[in-house]
Amino acid sequence: MAVPERRMTNDDLAELVDTNDAWITERTGIKERRVAGEGETTASLAVEAGLAAIKDADIDPADIGCCIVATCTSEQPIPPTSAFVQDALGLRCAAFDLDAACSGFVYALVAGASMVAGGVFGPVLVIGAETLTRVVDPTDRSTVILFGDGAGAVVLASSDEVGLLAWDLGCDGSLTGLLGIPAGGSRRPTTPETLAAGDNWLKMDGREVFRRAVRVIVDSASATMGRAGVTADDVALFVPHQANIRIIDSAAAKLGLPPERTFVNIDRYGNTSAASIPIALAEAADAGRLHAGDLVLVTGFGAGMSWASALLRWER
Ligand code: ACO
Repeated sequence: MAVPERRMTNDDLAELVDTNDAWITERTGIKERRVAGEGETTASLAVEAGLAAIKDADIDPADIGCCIVATCTSEQPIPPTSAFVQDALGLRCAAFDLDAACSGFVYALVAGASMVAGGVFGPVLVIGAETLTRVVDPTDRSTVILFGDGAGAVVLASSDEVGLLAWDLGCDGSLTGLLGIPAGGSRRPTTPETLAAGDNWLKMDGREVFRRAVRVIVDSASATMGRAGVTADDVALFVPHQANIRIIDSAAAKLGLPPERTFVNIDRYGNTSAASIPIALAEAADAGRLHAGDLVLVTGFGAGMSWASALLRWER
C-alpha cells in the first residue's frame, strides 16, 4: 500500500469549511485522511503500492503478464494510468485501466483472477489507486470530509488451490445521477461555464447513497457466500469498502460478521474509493490478521451505482 505523507485531520478541515470533528466522527467514523501533495498523483501512488506488492510476492517483475489499475481518478484522460504505472515499474506486459468507481478493485480482482485461471497470462498485478481529493469541491462540506488519497496492490498468481471461490459483480445504471462528476467528459466537455458552475467537481446525494449502500453490500456479500457454499461463520475476515463506519457496522451486523472479523481503517484514511479495499488488505496482512488458507470476503460499492464482492482464499 501507499498513502501520501500529508495528513488532514477533521480539525484541519474545520478551518476550511463549516464543520467540526464531532459531526464528522459521529456521522462517518473518519478522523483524518491523506491528501496527495505536489508531485503525488494516482500513478505515483500506484507505482509505490505496486512495487511493494511485487516485493512482497517475491516474483520476478519480468514474469508479470498484466497490470490492471482500478481507478476513477485517472492520471489524465488519455492514456490510461496503467501505461504510466507499467513504464515506471519497468514492466513489459499488457496494461489497462478499469473504472467501476469504489467497486473497481474487486472488479479488477475478478478480471485478473479470470486471466490467471485462463492460463494465458503470468502473474497479474492488480492495483487500486485514487486521488479523490483532486476532484472534490474544497468548499463542499458534504463531500470534502469523506475522501482521501492512496493506493493498494496485490499480485495474483496461479496456485494448486482455488484462490477466488466466488464473486458477485453488479451495477444499476439507472442510478448514475446519485454520485458523479457531471462535466469534463464527452457528454459535457469542460468549458468556462462548467467550471464556473462547479460541475467539474464530484457531486453526491449522500443520503440516498447511504440508504442503498447497506442493502447492496448485504445482498452482494450474501450472494457470494451462497455461491461458494459458505456462511459468515466460515469467513475469517470481512474487508468492506471503507465509505462510512455506520454503513460498515450496519452491513456487518446484518451479515452476522462481528467487529473482530470486520476490518476497519476508515478513521485514518477516509474513503479512498478503489484503493480502500487493497489498502485494508495490506494493513490486515501486516497486522497478522490474515493467515494462509483464511477465507476473506471483500465487498465494494460506489458510483454507477456499482457493487462487487469476492470470496478469496488468502495465499500468504
Ligand atoms: N459538517 C457539519 N454538518 C454537515 C456536514 C459537515 N461536514 N455535511 C452535511 N452537514 C449537515 C447537512 O447540511 C444537514 O443539515 P440540515 O439538516 O440542516 O440540512 C445535516 O448535516 C444532515 O445531513 P445529511 O446529509 O442528512 O447527513 P448524513 O447523516 O446522511 O451524513 C454523509 C452525510 C456522511 C455524506 C452520509 O450520507 C454518507 O456517508 N453517505 C454515503 C456516502 C458514500 O458512501 N459515498 C460513496 C462514495 S463511493 C464512490 O463511488 C466515489
